Amino acid sequence: MGSIVMPEALSKDESEITFTALTPHIGSLVKGIDASKPVPPAVMARLRRELADRSVLVLRDQALTPAQHIALSREFGPLEKHVLSDFCLPGHPEIFVVSNIIEDGRHIGAHGGSKRYHSDLSYLPEPSLGSLFYCLECPEEGGETAFASMFAAFDALPEARKTWLAARNGVHDYVWNYERAHSKNRAPLTEEQKAKTPPVLHPAVRTHPENGRPALFISEIFTRTFDGENEAESQALVREIMEFATQPAFVYEHEWRPRDLIIWDNRSAVHKAMPFDEENTRRRMHRTTITGDRPFFDG
Ligand code: SIN
Repeated sequence: MGSIVMPEALSKDESEITFTALTPHIGSLVKGIDASKPVPPAVMARLRRELADRSVLVLRDQALTPAQHIALSREFGPLEKHVLSDFCLPGHPEIFVVSNIIEDGRHIGAHGGSKRYHSDLSYLPEPSLGSLFYCLECPEEGGETAFASMFAAFDALPEARKTWLAARNGVHDYVWNYERAHSKNRAPLTEEQKAKTPPVLHPAVRTHPENGRPALFISEIFTRTFDGENEAESQALVREIMEFATQPAFVYEHEWRPRDLIIWDNRSAVHKAMPFDEENTRRRMHRTTITGDRPFFDG
């Protein structure tokens, strides 16, 4: 897996930016960018292209304030404010905190979730384009994030399954998942939060709007049913398809270090957090979530 050198239209410094594949199907290590500084338009265009093609970009050793994290994120598009406003960073509602840490008797971030593969905000009519996830603290062991390529998964499916899925929609249901997953570890959703997140229908295979590639669009967390199938049948199918889709050949697992920044594409990758010792170690991550478009399939 070699390095790709930047094209000549860029300045000398910009042309020293390199992208190195982390696995055959997903993930690029990006070197030569200081994400705390404004990123020139030509470099942003190259980052967007790499993100569309490789789904996950890893930038190591970035010193980012919340404002700098938000500024870089906005270069990819407008940002979402999560429905769980209690877990947004005070003063920076665009930053969603994912953490097991308790301060002053309250959880500072979303905890006890995201340990099953999903695409962020797939339960919205216009799900997120991508997310920028920044590590402030992490345990020495565990707490990795695993990413699976839904391009590679779709490509490798048997033809009959591809045809079946390409003709299906999935119902993505935030409230259904919250009530089954978080009844013991989080406060119940308010009526206002429920009203903001009704179930939505999305194609089970979506066309990536930037490169035209088909990707599976199924979430272990949020996909409740497929058209024409009852809930038990649908859940069995979600399990079967996602087990295939997240086989090791299609996965990149990131071992975090503080100051790592990962940019991922929610249109072509799913991700999950790996377990860690939540009682005795600390994990504190900041996520911005870029707004996206309505998924479509034009196969
Ligand atoms: C997320 O699901 O957005 C966060 C994943 C993680 O905590 O590794």
